[in-house]
Amino acid sequence: MHDFLAVTPASSPAVTAVLPQPNFVQLHHEDQHAVRPELVAGLLAPQAFTSPKYLYDALGSRLFEAITELPEYYPTRTEAGIFKTHATAMAALQPANATLVDLGAGNCAKAASLFAAFAPACYVAVDISVEFLRQALGSLQAQHPRLPMLGVGMDFSSSLQLPPQAGNGPNVLFYPGSSIGNFTPAQALTFLRQARSACIGGGLLVGVDLLKPREVLEPAYDDALGVTSAFNRNLLPHLNQLVGSDFKLADWQHVALFNAAESRVEMHLQAARNVQVRWPGGERQFTEGERIHTESSYKWRAADFEQLLQTAGFARTQAWTDERGWFAVFWAAG
Ligand code: AVI
Repeated sequence: MHDFLAVTPASSPAVTAVLPQPNFVQLHHEDQHAVRPELVAGLLAPQAFTSPKYLYDALGSRLFEAITELPEYYPTRTEAGIFKTHATAMAALQPANATLVDLGAGNCAKAASLFAAFAPACYVAVDISVEFLRQALGSLQAQHPRLPMLGVGMDFSSSLQLPPQAGNGPNVLFYPGSSIGNFTPAQALTFLRQARSACIGGGLLVGVDLLKPREVLEPAYDDALGVTSAFNRNLLPHLNQLVGSDFKLADWQHVALFNAAESRVEMHLQAARNVQVRWPGGERQFTEGERIHTESSYKWRAADFEQLLQTAGFARTQAWTDERGWFAVFWAAG
């Protein structure tokens, strides 16, 4: 079980007298001391790599929000269309008295758009940092004063263990946005098994990006405006901060390609010339054209994802898709 760093009401003295305030829990980050050695090991691997979670520092999170507005980046608006069209059918599957647990809540907008249809008894917003949640959850609470809310800061990518404060009713886990595609299939199975244990009597609602032609996939990850390039390259200053390295932006180019054999879009940073990168206690020479693999975004066939849900222990599943069959939202009863 995790220890708790803090359980605090949001501080806003001017409004505490009239408005209920969400509570916040920051769980210990997995192992902060392991971040640097983990990153260095990835940088020194024959095929250098970093975990995609390091793309999301404060600027990276903003750049990702901008990506979701790009004409080439179809997943966000396609998924939103599916929720809009099928919200009533999804709502009919919700258990009474449910706690809606929003995994990777961000600005909480996607879950909030379902409150009216789903009528949850409690809302739990989970993100890697509670600081990220404070503002969004504060104003959401003002709009829904009767709905108990909790913000939980935790990295659920390696372990999904909800804190005891996270509601008494059955949990409905909400994992939209196709973030599950940023896990390898093996990691996705581990996550789904943990999700299954966390939603007995409730269920899981998960957004999944489906396999489609390369001509659609590659521009979605290499847009004409260069926002995805900035999102990827912004990893370098973040690495410099975390590792103490001396990556220079001018030395690295954004590469996005569809790897059909693995059914995934890969993002890489490619050395524009021979580059020597140093950090305290280590260094690496990258030759021109050499790459650091920064993210994989798996694209599933609907039947394969359904099979994965079954393997994870979900017996009853249902899916909704858009008219092009580009994206699917799965309900898996817990
Ligand atoms: C967050 N995740 C689902 C995005 C994706 O499509 O894999 C991250 C992203 N990377 C580049 N563009 C968007």
